[in-house]
Amino acid sequence: SARQVVTPSFDPLTPYLAGKRQANITVLEEDPLTGGVGIAVNHDGLIVYIGRTDRMRVIYRDFTVDKHIDATGMCVLPGFVDAHTHPVWAGDRIDEFAMKLRGMSYMEIHEAGGGIFSTVDATSAAKTSSIYNALCIRLKKMAESGTTLVECKSGYGLELNKEVRLLEVLQQAKSSQKNTINMSITYCGAHAIPRNSNMEEATKRIVDVDLPYIAHLNKTGKLDVENVDVFCDRGVFSEQHAELILWKAKSLGFQLNFHGDELYPMNSGQMGARVGATAISHLERIGEADMGGMRRAKRTVAVLLPSTGFAMRLRPPPARKLIAARVPVALGSDFNPNVYCYSMPLIMNLACVYLRMTMEEALVAATLNAAASLGKSDKHGSIVYNKFADLVIINSPRWENIIYDFGNHGQIIKFVVMAG
Ligand code: NIG
Ligand code: FE
Repeated sequence: SARQVVTPSFDPLTPYLAGKRQANITVLEEDPLTGGVGIAVNHDGLIVYIGRTDRMRVIYRDFTVDKHIDATGMCVLPGFVDAHTHPVWAGDRIDEFAMKLRGMSYMEIHEAGGGIFSTVDATSAAKTSSIYNALCIRLKKMAESGTTLVECKSGYGLELNKEVRLLEVLQQAKSSQKNTINMSITYCGAHAIPRNSNMEEATKRIVDVDLPYIAHLNKTGKLDVENVDVFCDRGVFSEQHAELILWKAKSLGFQLNFHGDELYPMNSGQMGARVGATAISHLERIGEADMGGMRRAKRTVAVLLPSTGFAMRLRPPPARKLIAARVPVALGSDFNPNVYCYSMPLIMNLACVYLRMTMEEALVAATLNAAASLGKSDKHGSIVYNKFADLVIINSPRWENIIYDFGNHGQIIKFVVMAG
């Protein structure tokens, strides 16, 4: 039957492909030298052809093409993977932002009962429906910025019933937003020590009660929690307590993906290697021995969060040393009430300017390596045969413009194709 040709829209998040798992999709990237590069996508959203368009037209001559994007003069990039976010909470922390601008530190505010605790209070007081609506708006903004897969943490409940409520909200969004963005859900109950508890007691409760219960909710199909996180830092969970939580999570079948060495050196690299962490985030204060541990562990990805260091004026994480030590580096936005940033194009710019990564390294870190940090690089993170066709199409013949032209992704992104 006849080919349907859809001309590019100027809406950055085009609705054409949303929900079209049943469709054949053709994405064309014209190149005058080769006569064009084409990508064909099957019913399941997988890339089934990538190569010359003239050949593609011959192969698919007799196929029905439901959607056809003409990307002449544009660049097709893998959809961005945001390896670290805290998107489910209520309220805001604008007043604390002002306090930090006046010179107070993150930990001073936390120890005075603000920070994470103030968001826990605002979240506890909020209706589930308003938390859910705020989450969906945030996910949509991420998708419009080119993110097609995002890691989403709970962590503003702390107590089991409150954490489960937030995980349920994430779960509901994961299915309702599945045509907008893919989610990998993380239980981050060990985000702070509850005010009425202590490290010993909080750790014991998470290990003996909370983690087994969340594993049970996974088993009965109520939740789909893939990762477990712990905030391992001075004033939060010690190396030893974080390790107890992580071993237990591992024994229950979760991937380990935790916050380490952000404010103080905590030996997180060596500890993460011991427990077999899939990813360790932050690492502003990581030392040489920890980089060695991560390298030897082979599979542990360093998730760097340049917006956090920028917002908190921290010493940047040693991205160049990690790359030189052959530790895979990924990027995340760390979207949270302390760092209100969901734009992976901006994160890539900060990674280049502030962490001294090359533009190629930043792109790989924001796509393939970030997918690996979630255990999903087999199907996500690059434009490869038999992976999901999660794509960002920018209105520029030079891909680097997504990084170079910073703060302008809303105009430069022409299409976000969400097939996975
Ligand atoms: O990644 N470091 C711990 N967690 C968040 C901050 C959470 C908050 O302050 O609400 C982070 O920066
Ligand atoms: Fe974080």
